Amino acid sequence: MGKKIIEFRDFSWTYEGTDFKALDKINLTIEKGEFLGIMGENGAGKTTLCRAINGLIPHRFKGDLGGDLVIDGELDTFDTPLEILTSRVGVVGSDPSAQFLRGTVEEEVVFVAENIGLPVSEIEERLHSVLKTVKIDEKFLQKAPTDLSGGQKQRVAIAAALMGNPEIMILDEPTSQVDPVGKEEIVEVVERLCCDRNVAVILVEHRSNEILEVADTVILLSQGKLLLKDAPRPFFANVDLLLERGVYPPQIAQFGKKVLTDPFFSGFNLDPDDLPMNVEDGVRFIKRILEYQR
Ligand SMILES: Nc1ncnc2c1ncn2[C@@H]1O[C@H](COP(=O)(O)OP(=O)(O)O)[C@@H](O)[C@H]1O
Ligand SMILES: [Mg+2]
Repeated sequence: MGKKIIEFRDFSWTYEGTDFKALDKINLTIEKGEFLGIMGENGAGKTTLCRAINGLIPHRFKGDLGGDLVIDGELDTFDTPLEILTSRVGVVGSDPSAQFLRGTVEEEVVFVAENIGLPVSEIEERLHSVLKTVKIDEKFLQKAPTDLSGGQKQRVAIAAALMGNPEIMILDEPTSQVDPVGKEEIVEVVERLCCDRNVAVILVEHRSNEILEVADTVILLSQGKLLLKDAPRPFFANVDLLLERGVYPPQIAQFGKKVLTDPFFSGFNLDPDDLPMNVEDGVRFIKRILEYQR
């Protein structure tokens, strides 16, 4: 971490044919190796923010742009050709099948690397390292991508994106169409991208428990505006604001908030800044209440 890799400066975007800003004066800096979680209700602008980072906005979508978005301190996405931007940013969406066009897992994963003209030896080296990162066994290489489980497909999609050695990985609701076990596996792999590869990870995810565990920073988007940016715990402590904006904080935080604001507990000296966020916190919280009663 440390070096700025993405910098939004008063960035606004209005899609052609609409009369509202899908992104409205966004100011946001993301560092190398940082894990950013993006939350917000449907239509908040999450996907639009992702499209801006990989240059699809303004290069593939039509509309009005305001402000700047600079990658790596030097590439303004407006002036930089799309090919240069896409070589630095890997993208995984919610439907991996949509991007699988080839016959085998191996062909799928090496496609990006072949496309940028890497030598075969380099491709093989990257392939082994990438498969390790995403925990896909080499015996899967000759399978058809369609024969894999939802979680495996997404990890293959992540592997394919990693073959280009991106500095930024965007995952836009990668777990939304996957069963619970598959979801866990994806998040576990995504978390390692920051730590093992020093990639800036941008994850759009609706499940706050997951974001709490993995993100360094979380932002709340609502109607194109950036309303909150904080570390996960202080972020999810804004229970009322989040609920109002269609984001569900961890249920135990909602429970804690109810307890703290219930007059019955007003004399209990519970610290309002000490909301429980996970199960372990919840146990401590209950203990404090019981101790008070003794
Ligand atoms: N291609 C498009 N053309 C016009 N409006 C769009 C387009 N894509 C998204 N929008 C609008 O921009 C707003 C933000 O959309 P989006 O970024 O997809 O939200 P989210 O990913 O948070 O659900 C929404 O009101 C949506 O209808
Ligand atoms: Mg979206």
